[in-house]
Amino acid sequence: STSPLPHPPRRLPVLGDVLGVHASTPVQDSVALAAQLGPIFERVVLGRRFVIVSGADLVEELSDESRFVKHVAPAVAGLRSIGGDGLFTAYSHEPNWRKAHDLLRPAFTQSAMRSYHDIMVNVAGQLVSHWSSRDRVDVSSDMTKLTLETIGRTGFSYSFDSFTRAETHPFVRAETHPFVRAMVRTLQHNQRRALLPLPVVGDLVFRRRERRNDADKAFMAGLLDDIVRARRDGETSGDGDLLDIMLEAARDGDPNALDEVNIRHQIVTFLIAGHETTSGSLSFALYYLSRHPEMWARARAEVDEVWGADTPSFEQVAKLRFVRRVLDEGLRLWPTAPGYAREARHDTTVGGRSMAAGDWVLVLIPGLHRDPVWGPDPEVFDPDRFLSANVRARPPHAYKPFGTGERACIGRQFALHESLLVLGTILQTFDVAPDPAYELAIEERLTLMPAGFELEVARRDRS
Ligand code: HEM
Repeated sequence: STSPLPHPPRRLPVLGDVLGVHASTPVQDSVALAAQLGPIFERVVLGRRFVIVSGADLVEELSDESRFVKHVAPAVAGLRSIGGDGLFTAYSHEPNWRKAHDLLRPAFTQSAMRSYHDIMVNVAGQLVSHWSSRDRVDVSSDMTKLTLETIGRTGFSYSFDSFTRAETHPFVRAETHPFVRAMVRTLQHNQRRALLPLPVVGDLVFRRRERRNDADKAFMAGLLDDIVRARRDGETSGDGDLLDIMLEAARDGDPNALDEVNIRHQIVTFLIAGHETTSGSLSFALYYLSRHPEMWARARAEVDEVWGADTPSFEQVAKLRFVRRVLDEGLRLWPTAPGYAREARHDTTVGGRSMAAGDWVLVLIPGLHRDPVWGPDPEVFDPDRFLSANVRARPPHAYKPFGTGERACIGRQFALHESLLVLGTILQTFDVAPDPAYELAIEERLTLMPAGFELEVARRDRS
């Protein structure tokens, strides 16, 4: 069919579909538009046309790897000045993508998680200490500390001292590691630049920020170089962590060896990709558990049965089946990496519409996760949607929180092991009470995150 795609009703010349559009909530706005306009529609913003897909049958077609491949969308391209040809920002045809994928894959299998388990337990213990000395906590902020610390230590044997910093610097800004502040600023800056690509005006508007960004990037590169140099000179040891894998390949003449610049790109990629998404996912799970006391009780009963009062072994973590369904359902409603883009490898069609080679569309994951295949009440939080019989009854491509195909998330098992371990530990140790007046508000940065979500916490009385 060549009929025009549905688009928002009020369209302005030049500016496009900007009425009713909020710069801070593009994902939530698009989910609302998908509910009105259907499984495929377009939005024109400042002369740029975005085709947005959320229908399960269309996404199934787009999952065909012989016809489609990851497209590096503008928001992702904006990160290339930081991530370069690192795994997440690489074009599939760049040789370093395949090399890094083949080299690092073995470090991300389910069984490889065994080697990260003790560090993950240790960091969860730091969260427990932190919460034990407080009666009210900012959940997303603490989950972000936890996940960054976990990827820093497991991947690169580098500690950001996330929790100890908070002890010595009680003020919010001072407690954040300078690397993290530089990283967050650079991410925000490059996102804005990518989405407002006005050459002359943009350069003027952004000149001061551009200088700040250069300084941030230099600072980050310096810290990464120090980490690599210290390891290479034998001042630090990594016990087979990701950095060891990359440096040993270079030393041993492995065909998948990565050069020095690319190794830096991979480190920063893992630090970024490895923490915000997992932090948001943990925060949403805690939000829903705290709002449904009967689910909290059911999850805790499972932890008590499988773990008792002990620190869990590696094997015991994946046995939390109900807690796993809570995570899955949280990622259904709020997939914290809310989209991915697919590009036609050659001339083809999607839903009967033609796509020329190189044309691309954006898969809106929270839209897909509200497709009619999810039943009549997609907004209802119901972990039992993930009982195996219910999963089998749905089409296989209806759930995509980790993307699709060869470019899907390499860190999926990592995120799941870490999240189950942390949720289980919290259920085992604390009673929580939500603020009844709090209404879920979602902050859209690179990822989705509950905003201003606090909990009252108290050590559980086990007597
Ligand atoms: C890719 C989601 C955790 C590392 C992706 C993609 C999604 C995603 C949707 C595909 C993006 C695209 O097609 O453009 C998530 C979610 C997470 C999570 C929802 C947590 C709940 C992690 C963790 C790590 C990680 C913990 C690392 C330890 C990566 C990398 C890629 C990726 C390196 C790029 C893979 C490639 O293209 O070869 N992730 N992720 N992610 N993720 Fe994750």
